Amino acid sequence: MIKNDLLLKALRGETVERPPVWMMRQAGRYLPDFMKLKEKYDFFTRCRTPELATEITVMPIRQVGPDAAILFSDILVIPQAMNIEVEMKPGVGPWLPNPVRTTEGVNQVNVPDVHEELQYVFDAIKMTKQELNDEVPLIGFAGSPWTILCYTVQGQGSKNFDLAKKFCFSNPEAAHILLQKITDTTIAYLKAKVAAGVDAVQLFDSWGGMLSPVDYQTFSWQYMQQIIDALKDEVPVIAYGKGCWFALKEMSESGAAALGVDWTCNARNARYLSGGKITLQGNFDPARLYSPPSEIKKMVNQMINEFGKDAYIANLGHGILPDIPVENARAFVDAVKEYRG
Ligand code: CP3
Repeated sequence: MIKNDLLLKALRGETVERPPVWMMRQAGRYLPDFMKLKEKYDFFTRCRTPELATEITVMPIRQVGPDAAILFSDILVIPQAMNIEVEMKPGVGPWLPNPVRTTEGVNQVNVPDVHEELQYVFDAIKMTKQELNDEVPLIGFAGSPWTILCYTVQGQGSKNFDLAKKFCFSNPEAAHILLQKITDTTIAYLKAKVAAGVDAVQLFDSWGGMLSPVDYQTFSWQYMQQIIDALKDEVPVIAYGKGCWFALKEMSESGAAALGVDWTCNARNARYLSGGKITLQGNFDPARLYSPPSEIKKMVNQMINEFGKDAYIANLGHGILPDIPVENARAFVDAVKEYRG
């Protein structure tokens, strides 16, 4: 049904003529037309207005040409729907004026009816699917419960999420109650996204690498696994953990269709740790898009040769940076499309 189904083929591990390519955070800040919309509408208005979310989601498809679209939204709509205030402060990023740091705070967090709180996301999916007209698949996403906890407790971005870790290690009972509430909300949310029409989902465990391997299992992975268990029979799940190479073995046995890796783990190690069969996604250093297009193209070819063209999705190892020239993003995508192994 979908005309360009390279991504779906790669997620099923089927042989492809070349790997599919998309970029994390492709619907955003490096595109001049996005910046124009940003001047007119604040961040959550852009998320909550299906016409705007659709326009921004489709923008990179028309202007840069990746093989999949990812819905314009944010992982922090989940805490917002759970009765935790979230603002996006220009120049600062996410800002939560009342962070959750106590047992009482956790008790006040809701597990909402996602159709009541997040219907605008499902409406945006339906509108985007219409606009895409089955040209490329649409990816839906959610943050991992641990990554959502990081913002919910810390109250803002951080280099080490020290307050989030302090909360987990000094009050683990409350932390696990909070993680379970986030997990339950996320499962209902992703199931509703699938019902609205997304073709694949990605879990972003952007801050999983902040934890030791043992704490990762306790505070992150077991909740990721619950989400994968609940979704894997309905939709292919991509599990991305930044800095989580140490967990690739468990991840490869989870039922996820693909695993995202960052640039600190080379292709050979990632294949070895994940058992050699499962589809991998990544892992171009986003800062490498500052290199001239000719060099980007060489490095992309090398990356594909190292991962192999099958069971592989070309992507960055984390989100695209805001000041990357559009032509460099295009060089990345074109290099994959021109690949002839
Ligand atoms: O990938 C896409 O293009 C789809 C949209 C998307 C956004 N955020 C839009 C966005 C996705 C998938 C995300 C996920 C997200 N949001 C993550 C996980 C991925 C990652 O990068 O680690 C995280 C940790 C967040 C939380 C968040 N939202 C942060 C840390 C910021 C950064 C603030 C900044 O300006 O750098 C945001 C804001 C945000 N989310 C922007 C966009 C396009 C930029 C702000 C804006 O446009 O006003």
